Amino acid sequence: MALYPLVRPLAFALDAERAHALTIAALKRAKPRRPGAADPALAVRVAGLDFPNPVGLAAGFDKDAEVWRQMLGLGFGFVEVGTLTPRPQEGNARPRLFRLVEDGAVINRMGFNNRGQADALPRLAAPSPGILGVNIGANKENAGSDAAIADYAAGMRAMTGVADYLTVNISSPNTPGLRALQDAGALDALLEAVIEARGAGPPVFLKVAPDLLPADIEAIARTAIDRRVDALIVANTTVSRPHLRSPHRGEAGGLSGAPLKPLALARLRDFARASGGALPLIAAGGIASAADAFERILVGASLVQLYTAMVYEGPGIARRINRELKLLLARHGFARLEEAIGTKMS
Ligand SMILES: Cc1cc2nc3c(=O)[nH]c(=O)nc-3n(C[C@H](O)[C@H](O)[C@H](O)COP(=O)(O)O)c2cc1C
Repeated sequence: MALYPLVRPLAFALDAERAHALTIAALKRAKPRRPGAADPALAVRVAGLDFPNPVGLAAGFDKDAEVWRQMLGLGFGFVEVGTLTPRPQEGNARPRLFRLVEDGAVINRMGFNNRGQADALPRLAAPSPGILGVNIGANKENAGSDAAIADYAAGMRAMTGVADYLTVNISSPNTPGLRALQDAGALDALLEAVIEARGAGPPVFLKVAPDLLPADIEAIARTAIDRRVDALIVANTTVSRPHLRSPHRGEAGGLSGAPLKPLALARLRDFARASGGALPLIAAGGIASAADAFERILVGASLVQLYTAMVYEGPGIARRINRELKLLLARHGFARLEEAIGTKMS
């Protein structure tokens, strides 16, 4: 882990997507370590699942479910693979992934490049050493039409047998039409189909965008509760552009990392208020430290996820956050993480 300061300049000298591909290739060659013993103070129960710690790897790093066992071995309490679509697709033209080093951020417009659900299935089938989430989406040609709902239902049916939870991703900004599924009427129809397709399968989480208006938030929270969604992930990348310094700031796509933090935190508060504690919340967006994780937990998140901070800080980040989170909890008088959830909800 202490090697990362030496490796980072080499990785950052490469095109970002090339560096990511090499990272996945290196991880694939590594034998997965067994996750270490869980610390009971950090354990969280959400949607009937026992998470050994609250720090998850967000979707998009392991799109094709190639290295999730290795990532569980690096100390993540859960790993979400995908987004996987029913059929394979290329995604957008390259370049489509940009590091904004001066901002601690990334812009991506990958466009759900993945080899499809059937390809991933054998790699997901063997027993998992930890909690595995599978994030599903619609193929590009279906995203703007009613056929999108059929894609999500197909994803549910394909993946129910291998996932500990399934995430319905309607918030990626790089598939035209996809985010329209967050509109109240469309969302209700989508969730009805998805929950039916899930049958007796695992819990269903819904992942939302940070670019939502107050009225959208109320409607999404109400629909998710009515349709018995098991948890909300707040949030995906943003199409907004807060003040940025990097030369890549003008690239189109979704922004993640440090500049997303205030927006993701604000949306988490909004959803905590709108759901009134009736929906477990999973926070994502600009989480890079134990203090960031703790802040989200206090305002109502039961779990957190990260991706971009790992690009900048290296693969030891989950262990580091967990170690420091335990100290933070103790310093604030909490014996267990679960006691802290939502204690600063406004
Ligand atoms: C390169 C990249 C690819 C991503 N791909 C996906 C994806 O396929 N599906 C998804 O739901 N989120 C995807 N995300 C969003 C992340 O899961 C996460 O919600 C977002 O990046 C905010 O967290 P962060 O600031 O810790 O990165 C991607 C993010 C990045 C940076």
